Amino acid sequence: MKTWIEKIDPYNIDETIMQKMGNIIAGGGLVSFPTETVYGLGANAFDEIASLNIFKAKGRPADNPLIVHVTCIEDTKDVVSEIPEAAKALYDAFSPGPLTVIMKKSKKIPYAVTAGLETVAVRIPSHPIARELIKKSGVPIAAPSSNLSGRPSPTIAEHVIKDMDGRIDAVIDGGGCSVGLESTIVDVSGEKPVLLRPGGITFEQLKEVLPDIVIDEHILKSVGKDEHPKCPGMKYKHYAPDAEVYVIEGNKDKVTEKINSLLEENKDKRTGVLSLGKSLYKADLVLDAGCSNIEYANRLFSSLREFDKQGIDIVFAEFCIEDEHALAVQNRLYKSAAGRVIRV
Ligand code: TXA
Ligand code: MG
Repeated sequence: MKTWIEKIDPYNIDETIMQKMGNIIAGGGLVSFPTETVYGLGANAFDEIASLNIFKAKGRPADNPLIVHVTCIEDTKDVVSEIPEAAKALYDAFSPGPLTVIMKKSKKIPYAVTAGLETVAVRIPSHPIARELIKKSGVPIAAPSSNLSGRPSPTIAEHVIKDMDGRIDAVIDGGGCSVGLESTIVDVSGEKPVLLRPGGITFEQLKEVLPDIVIDEHILKSVGKDEHPKCPGMKYKHYAPDAEVYVIEGNKDKVTEKINSLLEENKDKRTGVLSLGKSLYKADLVLDAGCSNIEYANRLFSSLREFDKQGIDIVFAEFCIEDEHALAVQNRLYKSAAGRVIRV
């Protein structure tokens, strides 16, 4: 399949091209598009075959459900069977934006989208291109991140093209994604609200709206073979570059000391360091993850892809800042490192 790649300026959207992209979705095709979090791979959420094609294009396990994107809370009516008060409160506070809410699904949403579950994940994105694509296609859009399954999520179109060229109908290149990590996921379908995946909206922010919210235990630990986490995506290898990643966590001076000795031990390999701020490591490639967890979140996935591009075998990622955005960065780092975390 030849993939149509088109640049669109998010601040001056070309309506004609967007209508063509919307028609592809409405007609059962697959279009990758930017959101404020990461690029999504979209299909008509009411179309069972189109949704199944997302799984094929990504090589995604069939039991990992998709997120359905709509432009406003009114449009969730066809997607969910009821909107709980907790969901309304969350959407009022944080939408449009990087938040996904799990509710009971409507009959119109095929089980292909929810991977057989009775619940569905719904997000109201703020990115102008994502919103325009939903409007032009005239249907809710089911979209996971637009990477091959297991790889870091794409934050620029170049990442999408690397993974998806020839596998999907079209890519809308709308530049970089401002958040850089996937949305925060909250399940309000049960008795107590549960944070299933940390993201741009922090746990502290959620707690202000839903004081009884709890954190799912699988966020910072590896999932055992026989475990069934509430968020099926948690049990898969995730965000993994080809390089072997190690997270070195603790006070900055100790972390620096430990990484220096690890670099010494691994001299025979092509080494990389993901450092907080500029640093003087003697590695083959040192990338600056910024000076805050917000910057780290924004640069993490593109850095992991850059290490691969430059043929790095082993990466040491610093993790030293404790703030309310730490949980989201730690969750992605731990998963990309498949649990290889060294605390100093
Ligand atoms: O920011 C985002 O959320 C991006 C953009 C494109 O919107 N999308 C995204 O999708 O990250 P994906 O497929 O990479 O992650 C969706 C996660 C998976 O871990 C999946 O298991 C979980 O959402 N999920 C979806 N439906 C669910 C449900 N009904 N119950 C529990 N978890 C669900
Ligand atoms: Mg994903």
